[in-house]
Amino acid sequence: MSLHVIFLAAGQGSRMKSEQPKVLHEVAGLSLLGHAMRGAENLDPDSKIVVAGVGAEKVRAAVVKLDETAVVVVQDDQKGTAHAVDQARAALAGKTGDALVLYGDTPFVTEATLRAMLTARQEGADVVVLGFEAADPGRYGRLITEGDALQRIVEAKDATAEELAVTLCNSGVVCADVALLFDLIAEVEPNNAAGEYYLTDIPGLARARGLSAKVVTCPESETLGVNTRADLAAAEAVFQAQARAEAMANGVTLTAPETVFFAHDTHLGRDVTVEPNVVFGPGVTVESGALIRAFSHLEGAHVSEGCVVGPYARLRPGAELDRKVKIGNFVEVKEASLEEGAKVNHLSYIGDASIGSEANIGAGTITCNYDGVMKHRTEIGARAFIGSNASLVAPVRIGAEAMTASGSVITSDVPDGALALGRARQENKPGLAKRLMNRLRAIKAAKKG
Ligand code: UD1
Ligand code: CA
Repeated sequence: MSLHVIFLAAGQGSRMKSEQPKVLHEVAGLSLLGHAMRGAENLDPDSKIVVAGVGAEKVRAAVVKLDETAVVVVQDDQKGTAHAVDQARAALAGKTGDALVLYGDTPFVTEATLRAMLTARQEGADVVVLGFEAADPGRYGRLITEGDALQRIVEAKDATAEELAVTLCNSGVVCADVALLFDLIAEVEPNNAAGEYYLTDIPGLARARGLSAKVVTCPESETLGVNTRADLAAAEAVFQAQARAEAMANGVTLTAPETVFFAHDTHLGRDVTVEPNVVFGPGVTVESGALIRAFSHLEGAHVSEGCVVGPYARLRPGAELDRKVKIGNFVEVKEASLEEGAKVNHLSYIGDASIGSEANIGAGTITCNYDGVMKHRTEIGARAFIGSNASLVAPVRIGAEAMTASGSVITSDVPDGALALGRARQENKPGLAKRLMNRLRAIKAAKKG
């Protein structure tokens, strides 16, 4: 059966107090809308329609990056959730199968929950609504049921005291036959306290036609909707708690789990150990047995088996560490590959570089990769030894098993096996230190007198 997913993302999000459309705010480095779209991805929908409105061009640009097969339609005036769904009518004209409506500000609905809704449809329910037992029902719409059947949904603003006492709440997620959904939406009237076209009228309208409506439930953590910055922080906390638990369940040691922060796509292999206060930005893979020491920040990096990174290391996008590489304290690596067993142990910047196996990069080595206009590469061969406090002025190539003297400024290539000295020659002046000191002391005494 075909499936068409509609993501509602047109709302103002005024309580965020932001220049950004609400659905583009991020949790674990991925927009709320991105999370919602990811939740539906494995259902392999035939169409994906995003209804944008406030900040539509920004939303469109973000959607193109998330999924170029998704279609963006624009709701110019935000007249309510049913009106929002109606904007997808033309895009889905003539389609058959099910339509599933998701909210762009509700990031955590799982694939399993959505599948349970599709199953309920296959088992004969005409309209399926996702509900949850709310600890604090507050402003949520209430699901008014009769046994297994959903009679109608009432918005909190329109509810009686008796209806407000109901704790089974509306997540907003709805599934129905696509043609039926648009038929029912055409019947929705804005006769409610807010004067909006409510998608929540759909189950009642279906029942009036003698059709059936059913509730599928999920844990409240999945239906968490983001309306404020505090909600955004709460969503982040939910995501992080789950990511930490999942990492540990998969065989990762987290010394202090509550201090480690994951991105939406962090991948850690078995027997990886992560010490306290480590932050993973998007795009990081750490393979089996690697050790990520305290206070490190990794983003867009690949760390292979047996590597040791940190403490206080920064791996930026394009950092590619082969097996058993060591990156020590206060080392920054960007757009650079390090082959097996290479070591950069202290206080260095390695950018736009390739470093051969077993090379040893001394403390304070800087790849001078930027001339103010362009970036240039540094190549260092296998088993090369870079003495401490070196400036490697790119583009430059240092051969295999070559050495550079500490304090050198390396501006031209160093052949394999050569020793490069790029510093002023030392000169000793016998006795000069003592004479100089005496002269300075005499000057000071004369000033006091
Ligand atoms: C909605 C439900 C409520 C449910 C709650 C769950 C309705 C009428 N109410 O209320 O029953 O408990 O979600 O979080 O549906 N949107 C548009 N265009 C519009 C209006 C909204 O695209 O004209 C989008 C918003 O961007 C958002 C979603 O629809 O992604 C929900 O809208 P929102 O105004 O937040 O609805 P709630 O009042 O939270
Ligand atoms: Ca909402």
